Amino acid sequence: MEENVKKLTEFSAIKPTGTLTLGSYLGAIKNWNELCEEYNSIFCVADMHSITIRMDPAVLRRNALEQLAYYIASGLDTEKCILFIQSHVHEHAELSWVLGCYAMFGELSRMTQFKDKSAKNADNINGGLFTYPVLMAADILLYGTDVVPVGEDQRQHVELCRDIANRFNGVYGDVFKLPRAIVPKVGARVMSLTEPEKKMSKSDDNDPGSVMLRDTDDVIMRKFKRAVTDCETCVRFDPENKKGVSNLMTIYSAVTGKSYEEIEREFDGKGYGVFKPAVGEAVCDTVRPIREEANRLLADKAYLESIYADGAAKASRIAARTLSKVYKKVGFIKKA
Ligand code: TRP
Repeated sequence: MEENVKKLTEFSAIKPTGTLTLGSYLGAIKNWNELCEEYNSIFCVADMHSITIRMDPAVLRRNALEQLAYYIASGLDTEKCILFIQSHVHEHAELSWVLGCYAMFGELSRMTQFKDKSAKNADNINGGLFTYPVLMAADILLYGTDVVPVGEDQRQHVELCRDIANRFNGVYGDVFKLPRAIVPKVGARVMSLTEPEKKMSKSDDNDPGSVMLRDTDDVIMRKFKRAVTDCETCVRFDPENKKGVSNLMTIYSAVTGKSYEEIEREFDGKGYGVFKPAVGEAVCDTVRPIREEANRLLADKAYLESIYADGAAKASRIAARTLSKVYKKVGFIKKA
């Protein structure tokens, strides 16, 4: 893909701390896909972001490769977008250092994710957890990104990225484009099937509330049959009072394209015993072809290798240009 000057650029990434969920697909990858025609699209497997928590190296490697396979299996067209692995493009780490000098302790301390994660990992509040959004800002700014499709929980990080870029531009002139987050309305927040007040998590493989893209049909059906609902029996969209049912409706709507009214009508008088397996079936129909294609790709390591090598080469070309401009602006001597 050659860069097209008229098109805007979209950039997004997922960190491979776990295996991709139905939430990652509906809330992220599916939307990236839809934007691909319109934008110069760059998608990254954010492996460097994964090590703020202790990860088994073999698991991280497996997750990262699997994530790449799922990106492609979900429909991301390797001819139309750049797919790469973050650690293959060293400019991310380098720009991150520079940007860290333009990010303030106070603003990093105020990040909700930092506060949440520090509370949850009190024994490992490392520097990476704190500077996580700076690396993310580097990811975004290296590519002259205009839009960053993300979930609601990442909006604050994209805003911080904008603030850092603005501050840098204020000192050195217009170096960075100012990106903005775009948060999809439907499927933006796919919640856990067992604890519908929490986001569906990708970190725990055995979590019965998370549907993994690699789950077999049987496993998916079992998870949906056990999904938490409420003591009424009516399928009605009410995210305040009927969190579980509304989450199932969101999922069903996202995979079938049906509106909430249509779904309410479809299950009128039918009860959850009919509704839950119907959602499960519809999810199986969506996930099955993706899983099968991903498994096929994962069996072809040489192909995946060619994709990420090509992606890294294309990404590096753009990233190197941005980094060298930044190095010049801040006063580093050009390498002879
Ligand atoms: N922080 C994002 C998440 O947890 C992943 C991510 C890393 C990202 N770098 C990014 C998202 C750059 C958008 C742009 O989901």
